[in-house]
Amino acid sequence: MEALSWLAVIVAGVLCSLFLWWSFSLEEIGARSLKWAFLLGTASLMLFLLFFTLDYLSLLPQRAGRMTDEVVLGKKVWHKYLCIDCHTLLGNGAYYAPDLTKSWDRFLVRSGGDEEQAGQMMRSFLKDPPAATCNRRGMPRLGMTDEESRELVSFLRWVASIDTNEWPPNPLYQAVTITSVPHPQDALLYFQRPL
Ligand code: HEC
Repeated sequence: MEALSWLAVIVAGVLCSLFLWWSFSLEEIGARSLKWAFLLGTASLMLFLLFFTLDYLSLLPQRAGRMTDEVVLGKKVWHKYLCIDCHTLLGNGAYYAPDLTKSWDRFLVRSGGDEEQAGQMMRSFLKDPPAATCNRRGMPRLGMTDEESRELVSFLRWVASIDTNEWPPNPLYQAVTITSVPHPQDALLYFQRPL
């Protein structure tokens, strides 16, 4: 399908160039030529639109894992506790707390790749998050049930399986802990490029 998409792009490019060449080579355009230019232009654009829509739809199932009932229930829990008021998912939400699109992958790394352990870690984090410290924001204890935490983990795990073309991007600058800033306006200077 990818080769076909490239072919369609090349055909579209050739057709556009031919049309431009034709329209510039004419001294004047008659009503008949205009009518044909309009009809052929509209028809070919509609065909390209149809092709790329079908191409895109055929790729969708490969771009995410299977959505189970538990994933759907997890999304409802996500809305129930208004997680989006603090977090972002796929670019939507608030910037108070970490983006959760690939949060499951981070828990997986923290548990050394053990899925069972990553699930347990995430569940206990959700039910009883660590308290805030002076240089780290804390997540409130939302009082969710064991079942809700399980459903949320399924949902966040499914979200992490979506092929997002590397979204969210990794930060260019890494924050360093600021122990003493002489002037608050200099705080931004205390961000370093990763080595
Ligand atoms: C009032 C704001 C707020 C709300 C509401 C909130 N969180 Fe959080 N959450 C945070 C903050 C702040 C952190 C970072 C805490 C830390 O690193 O210790 C966090 C961290 C997390 C993490 C760990 C992120 C990681 O990858 O390390 C997960 C998972 C998470 N939240 C899920 C949720 C879910 C699911 C909900 C809704 C049920 C929710 N949060 C609601 C503020 C919030």
